[in-house]
Amino acid sequence: MKMDLSNRFLRTRRFTEQLCKPLATEDYVVQAMPDASPTRWHLAHSTWFFETFVLARWKSGYQQFSPDFQYLFNSYYNSVGEQFPRDRRGLLTRPTVVEVFAYRHAIDQCMQELLASHEDMEMTEVVELGIQHEQQHQELILTDLKYLFGCNPLWPVYHEPGAQLPTGHRASAGWTAFPGGMTSVGHDGSGFAFDTERPRHKVLLRPFELQDRLVSSGEYLEFIESGGYNKPELWLSLGWSTIRQQEWKAPLYWSMHNGQWHEFTLRGLRPVEMGSPLAHISYFEADAYARWRGMRLPTEAEWEHAASDLPIDGSFAESQHFHPVEAAETGDGLLQVFGEVWQWTQSTYSPYPGYSPPPGALGEYNGKFMCNQYVLRGGSCATPAGHIRSTYRNFFPPDARWQFSGIRLARDAVDGH
Ligand SMILES: [Fe+2]
Repeated sequence: MKMDLSNRFLRTRRFTEQLCKPLATEDYVVQAMPDASPTRWHLAHSTWFFETFVLARWKSGYQQFSPDFQYLFNSYYNSVGEQFPRDRRGLLTRPTVVEVFAYRHAIDQCMQELLASHEDMEMTEVVELGIQHEQQHQELILTDLKYLFGCNPLWPVYHEPGAQLPTGHRASAGWTAFPGGMTSVGHDGSGFAFDTERPRHKVLLRPFELQDRLVSSGEYLEFIESGGYNKPELWLSLGWSTIRQQEWKAPLYWSMHNGQWHEFTLRGLRPVEMGSPLAHISYFEADAYARWRGMRLPTEAEWEHAASDLPIDGSFAESQHFHPVEAAETGDGLLQVFGEVWQWTQSTYSPYPGYSPPPGALGEYNGKFMCNQYVLRGGSCATPAGHIRSTYRNFFPPDARWQFSGIRLARDAVDGH
């Protein structure tokens, strides 16, 4: 058990650094927008988490690596202390990248010593949380880098593909029906889950149907070409004012070159692959698209009910596709459920009945963000494998586009369907 946790800790830390291998030193330091942090900050902050919540508490005689780091790399934990402003992280030219790696390796050393010598149920839970937290930052490293590279007209390539992305059959989408009734959602207590996935509880679902694969870029292009971005009747009021203000006419990373739509990817600028799942749209765009099709987004309970027995496979970060992939097969049931793009649901991020955050600083991890955010499900091609579950609740504000976020359509079951 001890060895298992220690090994998983090290594997996770190494995978983070493996994701940084293609970077030039310059790439570590720039902050391209307030929501996106420099890679250097992610590397230090995920280390700060272990230092602050594990070593400071359980390693006897532990001496802080640097008192300044307590302030610089605290993200949002008010009970730990003041934080350096989030939108100014790109101004931190010190510590250097080399110093941040030295910080990581010093903390890794201390963590290994602690995990080899000390066993404690609560400590194990916090280390597990730290591993899951680091995995979340692995995804953010990729999405924040993509945003940074996407600002550069030289279109830097993060990953040179060894092979073409797999292509599928491009079968037209079908529907999978669910009879509805009483069901249970939420985590049942075995294995890791975030506090907000609990408690498991009953919900009543009306009969519904889900589209058996994700909305493709080609399908979304039909919405664009039909003037979808110019029709206020399709949009929520806040969505309409947002797209007007931001001048959005297409998904983030789409641009026209020589009369052809292109898409910036972590593999560089490429013609939009029309059969691949659409990515990088806001909740507002997902909602407007669904309305245009005469359909709707699923609720998170519908999504979870439909996904609960399905195998968790997809183009996770380890596959190094770093881009969602066409459905590779046709058949009964839902495809592309996990590991391609996060799927917007129409559910606001709010507490399950009976939810209470854990006591202490770690109670700030999730619960305090339950305002003005929507739930997304399924994980993406930037999510590390092993991080996702059918009960997993991701959340972002409705105008967020820099994550790999897309659409699975839903509709009410009616007579004749
Ligand atoms: Fe964090």
